[in-house]
Amino acid sequence: MHLLITAGGTREYIDPVRFIANASSGRMGYALARAAQKAGHKVTLITTPVAQQPPRVAKIVKVETAAQLFKTVQQHFSRCDCLIMAAAVADYTPVQPAKNKIKKTGKSLTIKLKPTTDILKWAGKHKKVRNRHKGTEAQRDRGKKGKRQIVVGFALEDKALRKRAEQKLKDKNLDMIIANTPAAIGTEIASFQIGRPGRKWLKLAPETKVKVAKKIISLAEELITGN
Ligand code: CTP
Repeated sequence: MHLLITAGGTREYIDPVRFIANASSGRMGYALARAAQKAGHKVTLITTPVAQQPPRVAKIVKVETAAQLFKTVQQHFSRCDCLIMAAAVADYTPVQPAKNKIKKTGKSLTIKLKPTTDILKWAGKHKKVRNRHKGTEAQRDRGKKGKRQIVVGFALEDKALRKRAEQKLKDKNLDMIIANTPAAIGTEIASFQIGRPGRKWLKLAPETKVKVAKKIISLAEELITGN
């Protein structure tokens, strides 16, 4: 199977040398890429700059901004069986990044931000579905032409973890959501909960991200093959 995996945290430039970033280490996305590769799948990894050893996968595409990440996902999405959005994507980006380096003035500075595209939501809306009772007519048409596609997202929540993640699962039309708290950012070991539509939530004991990645890949395999 062909898995499209995104990793890292996006950078939204405010001027040519400064950007708004987040604390994502890329560890989870890279562990997923390695686990999928080990399980014998073809992997395309779309990654922002991170301090991780590149995995030996079929293709690595480097991006920085949420807009570049969206464009790259759009270019590769139709050819994949499963998209896993492990990247921490900025929800906002500067309306007008400065062309030249911003000079300090000693006064306060306001940067106006605008929303970015929700890539996961876009993928949930455009994925191919096989079941004739599910999805829109356009999605079913796409499904007829090929296999169904699985879209997997993450949810980082500091409150009401399951409730909010369940909502994201529905709102973004996902096949699986991996929920965690900000405590998981940058760590080697973390606890995750996994939700799938119409199925009981799985609560994983604190585990290394490498082991969790292996579990996520095997659950994605089950979903793709319809087991
Ligand atoms: N995501 C995305 N595009 C964005 C923002 C987020 O595809 N512009 C994806 C992330 O890759 C992740 C999932 O959405 O898989 C959840 O991200 P999270 O930050 O938890 O949630 P949001 O959807 O941004 O919602 P909120 O800010 O309300 O928590």
